[in-house]
Amino acid sequence: MKLISEENGMIRLANGSFSYVMYVDGTKHLQHVYSGKDIGPFDKAQRESILKDCYYEYLSPEGAIHEEKDGYGGDVSSEVATAGLGDHMGSAIRIAQNDGSFSTEFLYVSHRFYPGLPSLKGLPYARENGSICESVEFLLKDALSGVEAYLTYSLFADKNVLLRNLRLVNPSKEPIRILRAASLELDLPGYAYDHLHFFGTWGRERFPERVALMHGTLAHSITSGRSSHEENPFNVLLEKKADETHGECYGFNLFYSGNWKEEITVNERNNTRVIEGINDENFSYELEENEEFIAPEGVILYSNEGLSKLSQTSHDFIRNNVIQSPLAKQYRPLLFNSWEGALFDFSTQSILSYMEEAKKIGTELFVLDDGWFGQRNDDRHGLGDWWVNTEKIDLGKVIAHCHELGMKFGLWFEPEMVNPDSDLFRKHPSWALGHPQLNRELGRHQFPLDLTNPEVRDNLVSQVNAILDHYAIDYVKWDYNCFIQDAYSSHLSKERQGGVNYLLVKGYYDLCERIVMSHPKIFFEGCASGGGRFDLGTLSYFPQIWCSDETDPAQRIFIQYGTSFGYPLSTMGSHVSISKTASYTTKSDLAFFGSYGYEFNPSKLSDFEKEELKKNAKNYSQLHKSLIDEGDLYRLLSPQEGNFLGLLSVKKDQSEALLLVVSTLKKITLSFFVKLPGLKDERRYRNDFNGEVHTGEFYRTVGINFSPKWFDEFHSELVHLKEE
Ligand code: DGJ
Repeated sequence: MKLISEENGMIRLANGSFSYVMYVDGTKHLQHVYSGKDIGPFDKAQRESILKDCYYEYLSPEGAIHEEKDGYGGDVSSEVATAGLGDHMGSAIRIAQNDGSFSTEFLYVSHRFYPGLPSLKGLPYARENGSICESVEFLLKDALSGVEAYLTYSLFADKNVLLRNLRLVNPSKEPIRILRAASLELDLPGYAYDHLHFFGTWGRERFPERVALMHGTLAHSITSGRSSHEENPFNVLLEKKADETHGECYGFNLFYSGNWKEEITVNERNNTRVIEGINDENFSYELEENEEFIAPEGVILYSNEGLSKLSQTSHDFIRNNVIQSPLAKQYRPLLFNSWEGALFDFSTQSILSYMEEAKKIGTELFVLDDGWFGQRNDDRHGLGDWWVNTEKIDLGKVIAHCHELGMKFGLWFEPEMVNPDSDLFRKHPSWALGHPQLNRELGRHQFPLDLTNPEVRDNLVSQVNAILDHYAIDYVKWDYNCFIQDAYSSHLSKERQGGVNYLLVKGYYDLCERIVMSHPKIFFEGCASGGGRFDLGTLSYFPQIWCSDETDPAQRIFIQYGTSFGYPLSTMGSHVSISKTASYTTKSDLAFFGSYGYEFNPSKLSDFEKEELKKNAKNYSQLHKSLIDEGDLYRLLSPQEGNFLGLLSVKKDQSEALLLVVSTLKKITLSFFVKLPGLKDERRYRNDFNGEVHTGEFYRTVGINFSPKWFDEFHSELVHLKEE
């Protein structure tokens, strides 16, 4: 299938389901013509009908007035909006020119098509991994500075995913400053859209909020240095009538783990523009002669069948084209983490007995969390000192026993941080971020390290890799527990300080390349005080991320529900913990709809609680991979809109499905049918809730009848449907 074509002056990316059309006008501006359902190529009349009011009058430097009918202006939408030209809807690129101005005009020079996807230097990016993709790269040149913009669009044949890449190169001898270089710009006609975004905080990540667009600018951003506690870079613009199963939705995301910003502007003519990219607050990046600036890869997702379909597209994309580790596609052993049970208070003996007990409840991978290194007996000491605290733990013995018990072994690290009370800080105080002439704010008694400094990165790589190469470690949890308060680097010159936030993120990716990618047999899980760095950049290296430190179902149902809009269940680290609100059955059913594990003191479980865990320990090896890790997710019941969470995950071949229903209120005994989409209409499926056998069509149109089931508060039902 040919994905990119050129007809009637238009360049069209189309896969039969979604199309994106651009046009180079008579004045060499790159215009956006259309994005949405693929309705075939446009002819000239159709293009003119969309790009109405094209009129551009200008006085050339030579003194002549020109009028162009077919030129930028009017209701026309752009691909690279800049200051100094056009529509006042906000710019995607902003440059501080050498003459002090912001005047910029990027004009078309050339374009080229190529099969496949672009690769990015120093930043994570999507991979083809068997998908068919094509790209078109435009070269645009700023008429004043000569700065070159390489703008690339890539489309997938098998899913409605469009990638957008921007690289700026300064060919002149004079340095220039980039003040903004957004990864995404999408202009849409009209403003009859809602915006769905995911805000949050520690312990309450990714809470969906749907608001109507209004005239003016709606902005969301992150300034804390990590991508996603307060707001997630994934967000959706959707038709007002759109819901889970109907309507047009445009999703946006970034391969970026640091500060980002999104602006949605509706102008006085009722046009809508979405701009998303690195946050331009505290950002100013100097480009010397022949230097380049690479913006994070931007992603546009499209569905005209509602939000569940958009999520499925995003999930398939993440599982197949974002996550790089081949271990992600293998069976993931049932995980036990020591943190909530033991915290820092453990010894060799207590961990050995934890392991014995954990094994009895089905554990296949035992993870020793924080507290095994340096002088780390609480969170005030030791970060930065990645040597085993042999007075506290005999790591060799613990690992050997773990393997003898037939379990894999995992270890916790937080490589990017340092406590002031550590050998590393005493030796290299300037390696911590922050201005030495100011009070430097600590977060959880620690500082982020200055990852812009290659010496710091080299030190961390050699410390962490020494442990990973010495011990037989199967899994690593990589944590990050502090905001970036003052992004001052003692290592960089004054010209480079405006780029610190961006260079820190690149430093993180460099560590990932040299630690994560150099250990392909180790499974890495990301974490940032829970789900504070839940983004495509992190997922490129970490196939799963600890979803939240909040494990109580009262809050967790919202966290997992919200996270599911952008991210697959397999990426959401979800553990059964000691929280008291719900039974172990409910905690286990809910955690099962994520990447499943345990986190408590196993010797404190009653026999009854152990019994409650048994069902899913058995289910896990049989059902989890094909149904949860690889399935298609449908959101059926929103805990925000009613008293239930309802999620359905359908095996790709539609032969089986798992339904999760959790109530939030007590004694709801109304007539209660839950309709199940996603099964094959003509096939027959038995469900293990009431043993009935029905066709897919019946489940889709009538549903499973849960009445007269007595739902107590936080009661759950995990129902398995299997084709007969
Ligand atoms: C924060 C994480 O979210 C927890 O799971 C745990 O690993 C602690 N850090 C350890 O300090």
